[in-house]
Amino acid sequence: VSDKILVIGASGLVGSRILARLGKRALGTYCSQPRAHLQLVDVTDADTVDDEVDALRPTAIVLTAAYTHVDGCEQDPVRSHAVNVQGTRNVARAAARNGSRLVFLSSDYVFDGQHGPHDLFAKPAPINVYGRHKLEAERIVAGEVASYAIVRSCNVYGYDPDGKNFVMAVYRCGIEGRSLRVPVDQWGNPTCADDLAAAVDKVVGYRDSGVFHVAGPDYVERLSWAWRTAEVLGLDPGFIQGVSTRDLRQPARRPLNAGLDSRVSLAKLGVTMRGLEEGLAAVRDAMAAVRATA
Ligand SMILES: NC(=O)c1ccc[n+]([C@@H]2O[C@H](COP(=O)([O-])OP(=O)(O)OC[C@H]3O[C@@H](n4cnc5c(N)ncnc54)[C@H](OP(=O)(O)O)[C@@H]3O)[C@@H](O)[C@H]2O)c1
Repeated sequence: VSDKILVIGASGLVGSRILARLGKRALGTYCSQPRAHLQLVDVTDADTVDDEVDALRPTAIVLTAAYTHVDGCEQDPVRSHAVNVQGTRNVARAAARNGSRLVFLSSDYVFDGQHGPHDLFAKPAPINVYGRHKLEAERIVAGEVASYAIVRSCNVYGYDPDGKNFVMAVYRCGIEGRSLRVPVDQWGNPTCADDLAAAVDKVVGYRDSGVFHVAGPDYVERLSWAWRTAEVLGLDPGFIQGVSTRDLRQPARRPLNAGLDSRVSLAKLGVTMRGLEEGLAAVRDAMAAVRATA
């Protein structure tokens, strides 16, 4: 194969889907969660990053590795900076030295959530540590690498038995009979992980550098997202309790009207993202398929 693509963070939700999508063209890495066929790379260790990238000399690197726990970032900004900023810088430098295209996964949390869903003209103005560090990382990528793409996404979900994404969290609470407190005032675009992976595949092969918004078409708040999830997965929604963000007392401030308007980027890439109903049905079908083979 002529393409060699390195997916850094392939043990995570988004990275694992991208790796699956790219198939034989790609090689993946993990950090703390070993998986078959993945190599160990800690992005905070510049030497290891250099060794890996210099040995492979990939045409493209997809960087999904990040410290993604938003409240964790708020409580441990040093760790967030080490992984999300310095880690990105280490990868960007290695990409630049090897002439690799760098596709960097970023977030709608670079915005303040005053006027979402945010289009490509919206001005980033993060209101928490995670968002500030993702924005800093975006700027490093744009500044260090000749061929780069920043892919901002939002509220990613997919079938994943041990995953912590929102749809799986709702499912697990439902079947275990635990109650779940869900904010009624946090808006975003639920994004099917497989669709995001298909879009990233296109971005890898796209010639131009720049920013892409890649998220699902439906703009919803978390409570109705949780209800729809329970309904499609056949759970009685009585365990879901709506609360205001203020009452949730999360350590990190949340952009309330967050989310992304992705229409321009998706038209450019020629990809469509499925809506929430269709995406939830796919999760339900994946669960049924696993049950059938168990
Ligand atoms: N999920 C969303 O809703 C969402 C929304 C917008 C943007 N994004 C962005 O999409 C990207 C992927 O998110 P995700 O949801 O897939 O996250 P995730 O499931 O938490 O996965 C994070 C990945 O990063 C790896 N990682 C963490 N620390 C590392 C380190 N020091 N060195 C190397 N790898 C490290 C993890 O490896 P181990 O698990 O093996 O340690 C894992 O593979 C992130 O950049 C995130 O900001 C996600």
